[in-house]
Amino acid sequence: MNRTGLSIVAFVIFGFVAATANTAFAAGKLTLYCSPQIEWCQLMVKEFEKATGIKVAMTRKSSGETFAQIKAERRNPKGDVWWGGTGDPHLQAAEEDLTQEYKSPRLPELQDWARRQAEQSGHRTVGIYAGALGIGYNSELLQKHKLPAPKCWKDLTKPDYKGHVQMANPNSSGTAYTTLATIVQVFGEDGGFEFMKGLHKNINQYTKSGSAPIKASARGETTVGIVFQHDMVTQVVKGFPIKIVSPCEGTGYEIGSVSIIKGARNPESARKWVDFALDPKIQTMAAQARAYQVPSNASASPPPQAPDLSQIKLIDYDFKKYGSSAERRRLLKKWDDEVSTLPR
Ligand code: F6P
Repeated sequence: MNRTGLSIVAFVIFGFVAATANTAFAAGKLTLYCSPQIEWCQLMVKEFEKATGIKVAMTRKSSGETFAQIKAERRNPKGDVWWGGTGDPHLQAAEEDLTQEYKSPRLPELQDWARRQAEQSGHRTVGIYAGALGIGYNSELLQKHKLPAPKCWKDLTKPDYKGHVQMANPNSSGTAYTTLATIVQVFGEDGGFEFMKGLHKNINQYTKSGSAPIKASARGETTVGIVFQHDMVTQVVKGFPIKIVSPCEGTGYEIGSVSIIKGARNPESARKWVDFALDPKIQTMAAQARAYQVPSNASASPPPQAPDLSQIKLIDYDFKKYGSSAERRRLLKKWDDEVSTLPR
């Protein structure tokens, strides 16, 4: 081959290598902080990678823990997107400038409560699902211990339930923070903290993750768990004898949210993830992972097993107040100082 021929071959090879590298680069990557149940996180990652070719590195941590991690990494952000977890710490992250504004073209397709979450945060977060808090119990254990079935929050402070109730720690878990904020809204500040102190006497363990207590109840390790009702449904669907109670005084709820982390290294991939997570087809797939939250896209079909929020006595949960940085910090500190340190 003469010199011209060699140059042509080299040019073609170089072009091929560059094009391949370019495709790999274009496909991109994403670091995802995921706060719902691990099964749903894994399903979302699989489907997103399939749809976009973007490689996802995912870690699952509870809502409060993820908030703390993003805050700790704020000078050198490592994550791109925080998907799922209760809305309050997402609102706090928005207020503390830890997340960035993004208006997905899918916003007009969403339920009011999901759009309100976006508006409230200056479009730094948006609702992806909703779910109501409740009391779950293992009916076989309840019978074995000859306990009455709880109907109201107030029941859980009765001495009968000593050592029988489990909830998560509100610092690490969004579920447990929603519980604390709900109780304060139901009983008032003083009444609420009196309730939390009474409840503390009956608690056998404060777990890290919000759904852990109902998994423990399914395994027969605790009679009662305070968790989101959709997490109870997961155990019922698996065949465990879990009963779901909507407390008589009324109950709080979450708006599970998604936010793009400020300083994300892969902002393009992050925006794609948000659009993907708001897609009605993708939200409808949640039931495949036994996730029974109510989806935020009005065209997504809620799983038939999802608790019907219109049939539950929901309080008018004040997301603006309880998702604010000052209030969340104040309540958690008060719980740490006045409740968690008490003997049981
Ligand atoms: O298990 C799913 C789920 O209840 C979500 O609906 C919720 O946003 C998340 O877990 C809260 O988890 P944690 O209490 O561990 O922060």
